[in-house]
Amino acid sequence: MENIKMNAAIITASDSGYAGQREDLSGPAIREMITAAGYTVVKSLLLPDDRQMLKEAMAQIADHNEACLILTTGGTGFSQRDCMPEATMDVAERLVPGIPEAMRAYSMQITKRAMLSRAACGIRKNTLIINLPGSPKAVRECLEYILPELKHGLEILLGEASNCAR
Ligand code: MTE
Repeated sequence: MENIKMNAAIITASDSGYAGQREDLSGPAIREMITAAGYTVVKSLLLPDDRQMLKEAMAQIADHNEACLILTTGGTGFSQRDCMPEATMDVAERLVPGIPEAMRAYSMQITKRAMLSRAACGIRKNTLIINLPGSPKAVRECLEYILPELKHGLEILLGEASNCAR
């Protein structure tokens, strides 16, 4: 992985956070965990639950090759305003269902409410976009499970590894 520039971006979707009515604790939780894993956080955005704004932010990062990984938090539930999976699927060129499947399978051992997260994941150009649920607790639980496997996926995405045989 030494050859790959591990730049990451974080997008928090929260109407109340965007309005300054609620502190974003989930974005910083992601930053802490991925920095410890060796990623450099190049962008951190706090946006409202607005599908257009979210998809434009994701497309900008991917199309300008700002980061090979975008981690989002929030907006994956059933609230009428929750639209993070839709914004992600709007910009994704290829879907990656296995990562949200894995997060839900692991998380359901902790809380059956994990089934209520509609989190999606996809690839746009050289960027992997992963939705995490909104709470800092859920962020930590999901990330601790998937983080160790992401590097191999990113190596393949970026052409640094082509052989999964070993
Ligand atoms: N996943 C984990 N690991 N831990 C959790 O506490 N909470 C769930 C779920 N996923 C949870 C979780 C709950 S209660 C909801 S409503 C959904 O995530 C959606 O959360 P969001 O709307 O904040 O994205």
